[in-house]
Amino acid sequence: MAAGATWVGTSWKMTKTLAESVAYARALAAVDSSRWAGTQPFIIPPATALAAVRDTLGHQSQVLLGAQNAHWEDAGAWTGELSVPQVADAGARLVEIGHSERREHFGETDHTVNLKVRAALRHGVRPLVCVGESDQVFRSGGSVEHVRRQARAALAGVGDPSQVLIAYEPVWAIGAGGRSARPEDIAEVFAALRAEFGSAVEGLLYGGSVTLGNAAQTLKVPAVDGLFVGRAAWAVDDFIALLDHVSGLSA
Ligand code: 13P
Repeated sequence: MAAGATWVGTSWKMTKTLAESVAYARALAAVDSSRWAGTQPFIIPPATALAAVRDTLGHQSQVLLGAQNAHWEDAGAWTGELSVPQVADAGARLVEIGHSERREHFGETDHTVNLKVRAALRHGVRPLVCVGESDQVFRSGGSVEHVRRQARAALAGVGDPSQVLIAYEPVWAIGAGGRSARPEDIAEVFAALRAEFGSAVEGLLYGGSVTLGNAAQTLKVPAVDGLFVGRAAWAVDDFIALLDHVSGLSA
């Protein structure tokens, strides 16, 4: 891991068959990743494709692989769930925890987020903790307080957060119905995150309607260490173009 690297990654959410996942990984593996020096790429496929993507990328790959979720217990009677050891076994070296879609639709709470963060760290898998406020909270000026509370809850009882990544993803900016955040919309939250966690965690990322067009201005916001992308990186050529773009910015 290059110290101070700019993180650029994508969650594929609930998209892509196995064949589509392998084709994406093959195209990514065909690029000489030395041109992304200073950038840390990561991809978070559906769990069904993790092992195949790992094998396609190869063990030398600079691209970090992640899972979209994992349970806090190591094993047991939890039908439909996957544990951290299971996703790690399939190739995940990071695990996304607490995405707003999971908080909204699947009952994820600050408490379960915290349990999952601790489970990930117990197994040496980086937690990528997602935090972010609703549009209502944003409009009422409560963003900093909301995000700080979520991040503190996620890291409660964590002695050493140096492997933790925090992604600030305002709910109002995520997905097809989201609107792009302007630098001035997110600067205050990043300043607060930097002040409280910046030197202790591995990185602070921004996510929500990131595109090739707004990546540079977002990365200029102080304390933004990387980008967490959905739709704009679901086509491998677009992800490669974004990685090239960001690597060019830091060159
Ligand atoms: P979009 O980039 O599609 O808005 O999704 C962002 C996101 O949720 C990444 O986790």
